Amino acid sequence: MTDLTTLEAELSASIAGAADAAAIEAIRVAALGKSGSISGLLKTLGSMSPDERREAGPAINGLRDRVAALLADRKAALEAAELDARLAAETLDLTLPAPPRRKGSVHPTMQVMEEMTTIFAEMGFQVAEGPDIEDDFHNFTALNFPEKHPAREMHDTFFFNPGLDGVRKLLRTHTSPVQVRAMQRTNQPPAAPWIAGAIEPPIRIIVPGRTYRCDSDATHTPMFHQMEGLVIDKGIHMGHLKWTLETFIARFFEVAGVVSRFRPHHFPFTEPSAEMDIGCDRSGGEVKIGTGDDWLEILGCGMVHPNVLRQCGIDPDVYQGFAFGLGIDRLGMLKYGMPDLRDMFESDTRWLSHYGFSAFAAPNPATGLS
Ligand code: DAH
Repeated sequence: MTDLTTLEAELSASIAGAADAAAIEAIRVAALGKSGSISGLLKTLGSMSPDERREAGPAINGLRDRVAALLADRKAALEAAELDARLAAETLDLTLPAPPRRKGSVHPTMQVMEEMTTIFAEMGFQVAEGPDIEDDFHNFTALNFPEKHPAREMHDTFFFNPGLDGVRKLLRTHTSPVQVRAMQRTNQPPAAPWIAGAIEPPIRIIVPGRTYRCDSDATHTPMFHQMEGLVIDKGIHMGHLKWTLETFIARFFEVAGVVSRFRPHHFPFTEPSAEMDIGCDRSGGEVKIGTGDDWLEILGCGMVHPNVLRQCGIDPDVYQGFAFGLGIDRLGMLKYGMPDLRDMFESDTRWLSHYGFSAFAAPNPATGLS
């Protein structure tokens, strides 16, 4: 019995002194494991006489239960202490700045498109849209491109294989087909059949959108963006065209005014046709708009060809119009100093976060440009 008392005292002392879970486990194995001290004592019960066993059995079993309970208590106490220590050591400093969150930006082309739309909207233009997948009629024929004319090939057109109906569709090479769609719509009888006749011009539209040509270098990409402009009314002349474009360019580049010159050019859908240059200064290695005595080609334009008006059911003896086509990406490159057009559509997030705009800087007719 004295042995049991001593053993219990020793085990209690070492359990109380155990510093961690590993020490507790070592004591458990040494006492209660297969060849542990208490397990050894339990084994002796088998060889005892019934009288001895009646006395020793409860004593040894009692010892085993008490030691097991001490081990469990100490283990729980150690775990609780460990958790307290971790909680104390791992406090969160809520005053630390949060790690930066990835945020997207507005693509420069979209920003520039919004800026341009805002300016034209203030001048009374509406936005019109048309399909990217066009047919020959809208992209070429109705725009007065003669059948088999080399200009059709000049556009480096992406053609689709003819469909089951034998019609060959294409990706529009310019936004000009939307001129045709808008004029044709104007000449539709109104939806309400009791009002006689077609809806008459005036038309004042801009058409921002994607255009496609099989071409790729520093200033050309197979997909790019254009903005078409079209005005149809009575008594429209080149003076209106010149004022509209000069006013737009000055507003867009945020300068007091620009000078322009019109060089004769050829587009099948305008007569006369011109390319518009604006005065600029190239002396500092960058192009400055609004000053200087150099010229920068900026867009194509002209007076809508009578054949185009006729194709769309508008009488050229009553109505005249002007049209223009601008490269949106190109204007953006000029305004924001982006050197290579191809970068704009690479989806490189470094480029996008450098040149992109905050969504809060979106221009609109109420707040003006950014
Ligand atoms: N569609 C022409 C192009 O992509 C640009 C253009 C020139 C549009 C003159 C016009 C215009 O409306 O009048 O090259």
